[in-house]
Amino acid sequence: MTAESQLARLGLFEARVPRYTSYPTAPHFTPAVGEGTFRSWLGAIAPESQISLYIHVPFCRRLCWFCACRTQGTTTDDPVIAYVETLKSELDLLRTALPGGVTLSRLHWGGGTPTLLPAASIADLSAAIFAVAPMAPDGEFSVEIDPNEIDESRLDALARAGMNRASIGVQDFDPMIQKTIGRDQSFEITKLAADRLRASGIRSLNADILFGLPHQTPERISESVQKLLTLGPDRIALYGYAHVPWMARRQTMIPSDSLPRPEERLSLFEAARDLFVWDGYEEIGIDHFARPEDGLAVAQKAGRLRRNFQGYTDDTAPVLIGLGASAISRFPQGYAQNAPGTSAYVKAVREGRFSTVRGHAFAGEDLMRARIIESLMCDFRVDAAEITRDFGMSKAALDDLFSRVSNEFGDMIRLDATGLSIPVEARPLTRMIARSFDAYDLAKAGHSYAV
Ligand SMILES: C[S@@+](CC[C@H](N)C(=O)[O-])C[C@H]1O[C@@H](n2cnc3c(N)ncnc32)[C@H](O)[C@@H]1O
Ligand code: SF4
Repeated sequence: MTAESQLARLGLFEARVPRYTSYPTAPHFTPAVGEGTFRSWLGAIAPESQISLYIHVPFCRRLCWFCACRTQGTTTDDPVIAYVETLKSELDLLRTALPGGVTLSRLHWGGGTPTLLPAASIADLSAAIFAVAPMAPDGEFSVEIDPNEIDESRLDALARAGMNRASIGVQDFDPMIQKTIGRDQSFEITKLAADRLRASGIRSLNADILFGLPHQTPERISESVQKLLTLGPDRIALYGYAHVPWMARRQTMIPSDSLPRPEERLSLFEAARDLFVWDGYEEIGIDHFARPEDGLAVAQKAGRLRRNFQGYTDDTAPVLIGLGASAISRFPQGYAQNAPGTSAYVKAVREGRFSTVRGHAFAGEDLMRARIIESLMCDFRVDAAEITRDFGMSKAALDDLFSRVSNEFGDMIRLDATGLSIPVEARPLTRMIARSFDAYDLAKAGHSYAV
């Protein structure tokens, strides 16, 4: 049997599974975690430790049809400036709740489109952040950049604030694909943004591109990848396009009959992957590529690669705090999410409260299963000795868990005395294999294709 027919037999082309940027996944969060719990977890942060911050900016100038992010369109700066005021108030709440001496391991501005912020707001917001905690000496400050929504003044403001890593949204360069997904973006605009970012002195440039877009063919994605390679990104995220029009209403503008079939999605991924690998990038986890000297590649080799809500990371901070509407925080004790709607978020912060509405406190086997899933997603293997040592699980119970999963996937999983691993040819199954270790109600868990 060919590898592809084996993948088909195991249901790869029908499966819809979570992307496992957390475990349990966000649909399992409940109102049991509210502001009180969030504050108690903040209070447990060690003084002088490193934490990471995520700042969510849920506004865009343009609303691309393909986009599944929760974001609202605005033609004026007024709502964005008002939102920055709320973020500053939330930062003030955070400052009084944090212990002394905390520094920032990572600071990430995402969205939406953080580059929508006027230059003065960028300076204002970054000053408010650094009044809460300064960057650690080796800290990274990254920003998601829409190449269509950046100019010299905003770029200068970001550079002055200390941005040292930028992530540009590309998706695909093909004009017909861009028209169908409602996102016009010439190669020239993207190149100008990349050149300006490099000239501003950033340490690392990331780019997001998508496979599985309408009208995409292996030839078209190869052409887009080749264009992207001329920009010399240090890191690339090659995400599978998630078509979820029941959640992202704008996607109804994209005719479903223009979408590639799941089998074709795998060929599109492979066409792009082969070019990145041929050009010297290392494959990182299920959907990233990085130059060998890049932090992600170094972390992967050292077994330090981690996965969080922003995807793969080499961040080792034990706490990630999300600020802004819908942002999610992760603590050693569990997850906490802010009110998803901007108005509920703003109302809570104006009343002097954190807007936490739901989350999950780790219990039972959560942390053990979370580690197994993260290990699979990052390293394609689970170390049995590590799991029995860190979670007090008996070797017999772990063997039993492993063999149940291995029965499901046959020789697409390797089991030996050291643990469980996924061979290269079975890597497209990784999210499905991870799902087998998920103890929560899977009907609720995820909606995007496994490949
Ligand atoms: C939150 S967006 C911010 C990017 C920035 N606003 C821009 O337009 O360049 C970050 C990334 O999410 C990815 N994304 C958005 N919608 C997606 C979808 N439906 N499926 C997969 N990835 C998606 C895109 O690759 C996008 O670059
Ligand atoms: S891709 Fe970027 S600019 Fe387009 S709607 Fe999504 S967040 Fe906004």
